[in-house]
Amino acid sequence: MEEIKFTTGLKVYESAEALSAEDQALLAEAIKQLSFAYAPYSNFFVGSAVRTKSGKIFGGSNQENASYPLCMCAERVALYHAAAIVPTDPIVALAVVARNPKMKMDRPVMPCGACRQVIIEYANRHETAIKLLFGDDCGKVYEMEKSHDLLPFIFDKSFLM
Ligand code: THU
Repeated sequence: MEEIKFTTGLKVYESAEALSAEDQALLAEAIKQLSFAYAPYSNFFVGSAVRTKSGKIFGGSNQENASYPLCMCAERVALYHAAAIVPTDPIVALAVVARNPKMKMDRPVMPCGACRQVIIEYANRHETAIKLLFGDDCGKVYEMEKSHDLLPFIFDKSFLM
């Protein structure tokens, strides 16, 4: 019997000060994006920002709809924002923060399964890894260096050749 296993994890920083200046700026943009969230149904506000290889930053926030399945996560809004405007400039980092007025978040809000699939699609598109940064409500920052660690056993283009 053979077993195939993946290990994954997050680095935890006590504060954003431990980050590089460019990562601090990315996280700050994700926090700014919280104020643009349109979340009248869930009251769960998510802000995101992506950085491209050339250093451009694109924001996104969750956008909800009375027809619930049409709601779009902040991560995908930010990723599609960047990919639609600078398609040849690889996305290299993504930051996410969330606010739930009913609770203080003492851990990172992790991307849903659909967003994980989309994050990895863009990493594969330019054969790069996307670094992920998550901020909580206590000031801590969580880092995942390689987006591929988000979704083991992924379905990707290698099956479509
Ligand atoms: N949401 C995001 O924007 N990103 C996530 O990582 C998790 C969920 C949004 C979708 C919806 O507007 C609300 O949060 C509740 O699910």
